[in-house]
Amino acid sequence: MATGIFVSGTDTGVGKTVVACALVRALRARGLDVGAMKPMETGVASAGPLDAIALQEATGSGDSLDEVCPLRFALPAAPNVAARHEGRVVELESVLSAYTSLAARHAFMVVEGAGGLLVPTRDDATMADLAQSLALPVLVVARAALGTINHTRLTLDALAARGLRLAGVVISHSGGPLSAADAANLEVLRDELGERLVGEVAPLGAGELPDAASLRVDAMLAAAEWPGVDP
Ligand SMILES: Nc1ncnc2c1ncn2[C@@H]1O[C@H](COP(=O)(O)OP(=O)(O)O)[C@@H](O)[C@H]1O
Ligand SMILES: [Mg+2]
Repeated sequence: MATGIFVSGTDTGVGKTVVACALVRALRARGLDVGAMKPMETGVASAGPLDAIALQEATGSGDSLDEVCPLRFALPAAPNVAARHEGRVVELESVLSAYTSLAARHAFMVVEGAGGLLVPTRDDATMADLAQSLALPVLVVARAALGTINHTRLTLDALAARGLRLAGVVISHSGGPLSAADAANLEVLRDELGERLVGEVAPLGAGELPDAASLRVDAMLAAAEWPGVDP
């Protein structure tokens, strides 16, 4: 059974999918067989679940989209809200069974949450509960721009309060180049995070992928207690 990393973020739109896909590619470049999941995707239009499709492509696997993304909803809202809008409920059992079958076929799983850590999946459960059910350490993608010190601290506190393992924090420049004030602010976060900072993705042009140095994969794997390819 695979282990893996659950990719969460300080917010929606912070760069989770970009980081998760880069992580999948970096792990594959080390020779690992990687599976990926976007267990529940909302805001799904006729083009399909775009995060899940990007992850599926990054793995290069033949895994079906139904396994990569068992739950899809049209409304761009939290999963429980989007499900209710369609008269449905979020069936966590289908997520767990798809994960079990993918994790049996791959050495490592990269799972992208929806929104941030405390986004509700059901009325009585959150993304943090899902990471806990899958027994995965959490990688936090943090926006580089103003507000990130607060959002990152809140997210790390929430992980610690639930006893969830942190795989690290990746700073994502998804908002483009920073102002001088934002850059000064970010320096404080970098210092505070220390070894927990396991990557930083620079502002990317359209269609550009993060370079290999953006992610400190060894540090993530060590934090995730992954024994490595040759333990
Ligand atoms: N480092 C970056 N530089 C520029 N644009 C980025 C960067 N990271 C993400 N983006 C863009 O920001 C948007 C949100 O990123 P995405 O990875 O989809 O976030 P999330 O998965 O957290 O919702 C997308 O349009 C993506 O292409
Ligand atoms: Mg995403």
